Amino acid sequence: MIDLHDGHGDLSPDELRTRVAGADAVMALLTNRFDASVFDAGAPTLKIVANVAVGYDNIDIAAAHARGIIVTNTPDVLTDATADLTLGLILDIMRRLTEGDRLIRRDGWRGWAFDFMLGRDLRGKQLGIIGAGRIGRAVAARARAFGMSIAYAARDGHRTADEPDARWMSFDELLVSSDVVSLHVPLTPATRHLITQKDLVRMKRSAVLVNTTRGPVVDEAALAWALREHRIAGAALDVFEREPVVHPDLIPLENVLLVPHLGSATVETRTAMADLAARNILAVLAGQPPLTPIVPAAPRD
Ligand code: GLV
Repeated sequence: MIDLHDGHGDLSPDELRTRVAGADAVMALLTNRFDASVFDAGAPTLKIVANVAVGYDNIDIAAAHARGIIVTNTPDVLTDATADLTLGLILDIMRRLTEGDRLIRRDGWRGWAFDFMLGRDLRGKQLGIIGAGRIGRAVAARARAFGMSIAYAARDGHRTADEPDARWMSFDELLVSSDVVSLHVPLTPATRHLITQKDLVRMKRSAVLVNTTRGPVVDEAALAWALREHRIAGAALDVFEREPVVHPDLIPLENVLLVPHLGSATVETRTAMADLAARNILAVLAGQPPLTPIVPAAPRD
């Protein structure tokens, strides 16, 4: 039997526990929080939770594994869509497109002028990518076509990509030297508030911050302060700390672009994500290994 929820609005922990009880498999959305109590509610039937997202910070992986429950995600199939959106955000904030749209709609345009609404070129600018995983590298490939140079940093200094025309830097060096800083690390306890006020004040005053990963990676209150005080030039955000709530201090600011978590939101990509999650479930229920399991992180040497 299949029990469907339309995917709009969060399920409360109680609703989630009720729906999970007796299920063999669950296809989960990133707005569903799976903790130990939800897995207990699914015992003993629940075998797999297939998250329809690449990020899985909504799931307590250790609690699932401790109960023998498999968790899968949807990597790869959303890389291009998310990288496309990231470039869209970079272009928009650098060239002030949405700001111009807002100006026209409030009847504020007084006509063409030589020095009107000047933005910034991408060519010749350094794109600092924090988190050189699949999406970070796909963003780099697109940005090169716009003439940007690429710098990578990982918070833990671990190199994940070796590209001849990209430079690896420390987190600090990347922050102080980049014109655009784009975040592509997953949300984990180590990356929560990775970007704080002290990081923002180290960025160039002309730099912009782009976040398409998870809102809590950035201290949103500190970011609103930095934007209001023009300590950085701008930000483009697809994700927020308490979605769908956006920090009220961001709303009046002209130098921030706010997008409602659309990273993978295309017809093709969402279809591919749902398809991959379904194939993971079918494999596990047929006694086969899942296609894209979350495995416990291997210790690094
Ligand atoms: C979307 O945010 C995802 O993690 O897939």
